[in-house]
Amino acid sequence: MDHIILIGFMGAGKTAVGKRLARQMQLPFVDTDDWIEAQEGRSISDIFAEDGEAYFRTLETDALHRLLDSKERCVISVGGGLPVQPQNWPVLRQLGTVVYLEADIETLLGRLKYDTKRPKLQGGDLREKIETLMEQRKEIYEQTADLRVTTDDREFSQILQEIMEKTTNIVNCG
Ligand code: S3P
Repeated sequence: MDHIILIGFMGAGKTAVGKRLARQMQLPFVDTDDWIEAQEGRSISDIFAEDGEAYFRTLETDALHRLLDSKERCVISVGGGLPVQPQNWPVLRQLGTVVYLEADIETLLGRLKYDTKRPKLQGGDLREKIETLMEQRKEIYEQTADLRVTTDDREFSQILQEIMEKTTNIVNCG
């Protein structure tokens, strides 16, 4: 399968970049969080509050497996915690090229400071939460990805250009 899968921390721009990339490449766009909310008929915040994070993680893994059946090439954005689950690693590999969208802590803070929709970031000190989670996840993102693209202080057009160039190279040489 040669889907383009965007991974990275909350606020790294996976959905915003993914939508634009899909439009530019004329491919369907899939967001695992949106899929899960549609399937469950409730928000991610409600899923966390009513059934807990562990249940949400099983939904993410199910969504990822369902993508294996897709016959059409897609741009896929996955939730920031999905690559943390080891059982998802082989599935991500199988799905296609994994692109890690990187952003530094200051960028993330700026983008997430008014967020109310991400249960992992509610309550307490936002910087501390981001730093702690990033510490736990950074290496996993790096190791799961085929390539890395920074989003700090960049226009969407530059980010899209870099992803398209790099993914083309991987497909052609790989
Ligand atoms: C999460 C990231 C969210 C969403 C959920 C948990 C995480 O997705 O899946 O709130 O653990 O990092 P985004 O990365 O799209 O915000």
